[in-house]
Amino acid sequence: MNNLPVPALSFRAPGKINLGLAVGDLDVTGYHSLRNLFQAVELFEDIEIHAAGQFDVSFAGPVDTSGLTGTNTLVHRAAHLVAAAAGLDPMPGARIEVLKRVPIAGGMGGGSADAAATLVACNELWSAGLNHEQLHALAAQLGADVPFALHGGTQLGTGRGDQLVDVLSPGRYTWLLVPSAIGLSTPAVYAELDRMRECGEAPSTDLETDARTDELLVALRSKDPRALAPALFNDLDAAACSLLPALETTRQVGLNAGALAGFVSGSGPTVVFLARDNEHGLDVQLGLREQHIDSVMVHSPARGVL
Ligand code: C5P
Repeated sequence: MNNLPVPALSFRAPGKINLGLAVGDLDVTGYHSLRNLFQAVELFEDIEIHAAGQFDVSFAGPVDTSGLTGTNTLVHRAAHLVAAAAGLDPMPGARIEVLKRVPIAGGMGGGSADAAATLVACNELWSAGLNHEQLHALAAQLGADVPFALHGGTQLGTGRGDQLVDVLSPGRYTWLLVPSAIGLSTPAVYAELDRMRECGEAPSTDLETDARTDELLVALRSKDPRALAPALFNDLDAAACSLLPALETTRQVGLNAGALAGFVSGSGPTVVFLARDNEHGLDVQLGLREQHIDSVMVHSPARGVL
């Protein structure tokens, strides 16, 4: 008998920023149709999975994980989905350790990244035999952004944001991320956008005629951050700032410090600044720091889990 312990398996999933997020109408299922241009950034969630008798999940990392308790996190739900899809009943055990770096409830898809990595990790550890399409389908059940975390890179999501196509983005970009101490709930931000549109405080977007995503795709092909800056857009930006006006102040500080662009990522509240390159990024970081705003420099694009 070979009694050697099974080594842990490691997986890495990226956080994301939304370079363009066009939000269309609310559909009957309570979701909005989107044209969502995602880019994965080199800020990673690391997941280690060990064989174990029981199923157990722990979170640690530079991000405060004290709020992540209970047995209904996206990690638990991802593991259950893999077991159910592969007919593993009862669900096998595993010990999963998540090292979190992506801000929680920050609009950067950290929870979605954990879920994506867990799908792949459980599939491997349990030899569940699910193929990429099956994993993608499970990812879409877990949340609109989870399929993107599986694939990474630069992708355009339509439908709820979960029908993905690869996008040509040959450039490499430098960003400053400013996390917020206060989180924003994704449904609350979408609801605020609906409210603002209803009372004329925000324009509606007709996804059929909206040209911003096409302009963004052209800008990305140029590889030039100065061409990319004016093409970045997010329909949820105004809604996030309406709920958390301090985000607007942060944006102004970054722009005054010379950032090429400043915007809220996804449903926020992380504020993202684009720099020309590393050196310029350090200048912007210093300008933010002088106003007591901490930021993290990251580069993009990054690979997904698969
Ligand atoms: O699927 P996910 O967990 O990412 O979505 C959280 C919430 O965000 C949804 O319940 C919905 O209120 C809102 N949402 C939306 N339209 C989308 C994606 C999310 O209205 N395309």
